[in-house]
Amino acid sequence: MFLITDYDDGAYSYQDYWQGRDYEHQAELHAMRSLLRSGSDGWIADLGCGFGRLAPAYLASARPVVFVDHSLKLLDQAQARYGPPHSTRLYVAANLNHLPFRTGSIDTTLLIRVMHHLPSYNRVLREVSRIAQREWILDVPQKLHAVAQARGLLRGQWRTLRDPAPVTLSRKATQVFLNYHPQSIEHQVTKLGWLIRDVRSTSNLRSPWLKQRVGLNRLVSLESWLQSRLASVRFGPNLWYALSRLESIDTPAPVESEVLACPQCQGSLERLEEDTMVCWGCSQRFIRHKRIWDLRWPRPDSELTASEGVDAKFWSRWPSNSDPGPRTYTSHSTTLSQE
Ligand SMILES: C[S@@+](CC[C@H](N)C(=O)[O-])C[C@H]1O[C@@H](n2cnc3c(N)ncnc32)[C@H](O)[C@@H]1O
Ligand SMILES: [Zn+2]
Repeated sequence: MFLITDYDDGAYSYQDYWQGRDYEHQAELHAMRSLLRSGSDGWIADLGCGFGRLAPAYLASARPVVFVDHSLKLLDQAQARYGPPHSTRLYVAANLNHLPFRTGSIDTTLLIRVMHHLPSYNRVLREVSRIAQREWILDVPQKLHAVAQARGLLRGQWRTLRDPAPVTLSRKATQVFLNYHPQSIEHQVTKLGWLIRDVRSTSNLRSPWLKQRVGLNRLVSLESWLQSRLASVRFGPNLWYALSRLESIDTPAPVESEVLACPQCQGSLERLEEDTMVCWGCSQRFIRHKRIWDLRWPRPDSELTASEGVDAKFWSRWPSNSDPGPRTYTSHSTTLSQE
């Protein structure tokens, strides 16, 4: 059983969310550009890419890119920005818990602003690690940032902050919004065979007061200077990790047909017609709709039906009726259990 935060919900616009957040956006473009390594021609997978907000940071490299998200609406918006698919640009609807890629087929994986939606984060970290061959940029919303620590002291939440388990820090959060203990994530990725090559602290100056008084360009310059300097004291609300595989093997970048795999059984997919693929392993069929391959597993329709009443614990913690953000629903997996 997995929780999915549904950005296809008609009432919510993620593009609108970014109106007036130029500082945060520029700060993240800077972090991405400074962490991504050059010198590879392998695939980049932007996992939970949304509308492809951060693509300007990596499209210039001319490497093959796959945009991946659960939301068809956001993938459609990404396509409107970055053009139709071709042999080195794909749009794939997928569930991060069941990634439809072959093991080790993706050179560089990006997971930005997604971890807070993932109660099954252990499962997702393992999936991303499985498909990533060489490099992984991972953004972790952390619970030990400077403001959280100050608040924690005042509210007597010190123990909660020190505990390795993720928590929802915001009192206003009406949906899944997890903040992690950085060391627990560092431990997890190290166990999966990754080396922490570099870290950035981001959105360090995210304050309405500063935004009003300091111009955008100045604020972004200052932020860019601070990102690596404040990483060691874990100052900002998010930590961006550049991870390198401890033992990476240099293999040529696979072509499109060698990248995709069945999300259910990881079997090979064969193209039947222009817009249909079938899995050799489990015979499941997948279709392409509006030039987006729908490789979501479990199938979203069954997920929505299956969700009724099964996840009372999460629904009661994150009621969605007055929720200004995207809604969360439960997805059932036939093969794996939630962690
Ligand atoms: C806050 S947005 C971030 C989008 C983009 N990375 C950015 O930084 O602008 C979170 C994205 O994660 C996607 N997402 C959340 N849970 C997912 C899951 N289980 N599988 C695939 N995508 C997921 C949502 O659809 C949404 O586009
Ligand atoms: Zn299959």
